[in-house]
Amino acid sequence: MTTSIIPAAGKGTRLGSNLPKALVPIAGKPMITWTIAAFEQTPVVNAIVLVAPDDSLEEFERLRTENKWQKVFKIIPGGTDRQQSVWKGLQAMPSETEWVIVHDAARPLVKPSLIVSVWEAAQEIGTAAIAALPCSDTVKRTLDGVLIAETLDREQIWLAQTPQVFAADLLKEAHEQAIKDGCSATDDAALVERLGVPIRLVMGDPTNIKITHSVDLILVEALISGKF
Ligand code: CTP
Ligand code: MG
Repeated sequence: MTTSIIPAAGKGTRLGSNLPKALVPIAGKPMITWTIAAFEQTPVVNAIVLVAPDDSLEEFERLRTENKWQKVFKIIPGGTDRQQSVWKGLQAMPSETEWVIVHDAARPLVKPSLIVSVWEAAQEIGTAAIAALPCSDTVKRTLDGVLIAETLDREQIWLAQTPQVFAADLLKEAHEQAIKDGCSATDDAALVERLGVPIRLVMGDPTNIKITHSVDLILVEALISGKF
């Protein structure tokens, strides 16, 4: 059985909206409805655990009914950071879960075909796979945000996206170890990397944008309306 955990409990501070980010409208519908629709349409996904802001649980339940989400197994309150929200999601999964797909609510344009490709790569390697894009910019490292310390070899740099797919036991172990070690990370692959197991890179999709700043909303709406 494959379960998706969708962390959607963030505030969207960088977006500067009054609404929690997952409820911000995109082409007239809350962001989370686009993201969930992609998973509802993906055949390999059996169940969804949706991690929502504490004070929006009722609104998420209302959206579940209104949009007739079939696969949403539980809607649970999130934690103080993304890692805690995913950790809570792991506790709420159906016990038969063998594979976990973690995907940020903030990437509403994810395609079912990408979800399936990453899932298949994870099955093949037996451990984990993530969507990522080769970096097209030249990358500078800085220690103080003022002066360049060095230029990194762009050929070696890939930018991580979600979906990220993991064997369920492996992801649980990675989170437990991170808690023990007081380690925090902004994606789940970073926690699994610490266990030293192989993780496959799968070519991501440049339209699978993470909505972070207000310009990202404009880009996503333009993509939806077919403007580019
Ligand atoms: N997230 C979460 N729980 C948190 C923080 C973040 O579930 N306590 C989720 C967000 O809802 C989002 C994903 O993790 O889908 C990626 O986080 P990010 O893009 O940083 O979203 P926010 O934390 O909402 O934005 P900001 O950092 O600007 O406040
Ligand atoms: Mg954040």
